[in-house]
Amino acid sequence: MTDTDSDGLTHLYSETVRATMDGGTYGAWRSIAGADAVPLSFGFPYPDSFPNDALVKSAEALVAAEGDCALQYGGGEYADALPELIASRARDRGIACTADEIHLTNGATNAIDTVCQTFLDPGDAVFVEGPTFMGALRLFRNYDVEIAAFDVDEDGLDVEAVAAALEARAAAGETLPTLLYTIPTFHNPTGVTLTADRRARLLELAETYDFVILEDDPYGQLRFDGTEPAPIKALDESGRVIRVNTFSKTIAPGVRTGWTIADEAITAQFDRINAGGEPSFTRGLITKYAEDGRLDRAIEALCAGYEPRRDQLLESLEARMPPGTTWSEPDGGFFVWVGFPDGVDAETMLDDAIDRGVTYLPGTFFYPDDRGAGHARVSFSHTTPEAIDEGIAALAGAVEAAMPTAEADD
Ligand SMILES: Cc1ncc(COP(=O)(O)O)c(C=O)c1O
Repeated sequence: MTDTDSDGLTHLYSETVRATMDGGTYGAWRSIAGADAVPLSFGFPYPDSFPNDALVKSAEALVAAEGDCALQYGGGEYADALPELIASRARDRGIACTADEIHLTNGATNAIDTVCQTFLDPGDAVFVEGPTFMGALRLFRNYDVEIAAFDVDEDGLDVEAVAAALEARAAAGETLPTLLYTIPTFHNPTGVTLTADRRARLLELAETYDFVILEDDPYGQLRFDGTEPAPIKALDESGRVIRVNTFSKTIAPGVRTGWTIADEAITAQFDRINAGGEPSFTRGLITKYAEDGRLDRAIEALCAGYEPRRDQLLESLEARMPPGTTWSEPDGGFFVWVGFPDGVDAETMLDDAIDRGVTYLPGTFFYPDDRGAGHARVSFSHTTPEAIDEGIAALAGAVEAAMPTAEADD
């Protein structure tokens, strides 16, 4: 008999869980808050953006139309129609796909995890943008893989740095990546967009060095300025791009519905792994809600809601931040990446910033290594333009207080 008092059931955990179990708790960033602090830390939609009434009416109409089927395993006709709705919307963005290439998941998080389950073994390498979405980092860490992060500039991922690393690894006989994870449009956390040229080059590298591109695009439809470069999946003729998306930012996170777009053979594996896990009632609800162009009108209204928030954030940064501060200027999405003057550490400054009335996420959250201390992700999505200005005034105060004085430099 094994003594369960000393280690609980740890000795029965899988090797991968034992290797990764001390890696921290998923979602720890949600606890960064202050009772009166303006929450520029949350990458959440603003509460008034939720279509409460329309969702309630759609749920009533769904049950009226389909009776018990709507709530039965598998759902009814509306649930069945969601993959085609998603495929047709993807085709409108240049992605040639059918409903058989769509796998539905519980949000993009579950979609990324499904891709990880399918492709990753312990010891594999995953390439990511540095910085990148911390939720994805948490998922990759669960798989006991090497995570290598490559710089991002105003044109997105530095694809030539990726090319150089691939070449060096191949020459040295080192592990090549299985997966490269990218958020090419309105990247989390920087807000930047990968240029069309870099998208094409990345795909060429994936073909040469035989890896999967995991393209995560929750924010692409929330565009206020400019035109969208083609999704990487739209350029993909060899079937090595897997696209992940979600209704979290275009309807609401609580509907927990996301999807993958991948070749039929890969999609069949995703279906097999997650068999029985589809959110059938919610699928029907979303199809009903989206009817008659309502989803498109809702997305237009969301853009009209987010754009003044983005404008206010950029204006407040310009008006209030001390010299030496830098920031990205996104054409859409939720986030601005702020760089602080030399010597300011976003992590150590956070408590003072919360006392002064603002929260943000320190840049260190978004790297798999120890980079990011001089940056913060500031989100304009969750609060009002007035509160954004108050938050940035508080942030400016915190930065000024944290800046090394000339004396301290001596
Ligand atoms: C880049 C990125 N991917 C995925 C997600 C998670 O999406 P979901 O709520 O659908 O799980 C987020 C949410 O913040 C995100 O920013």
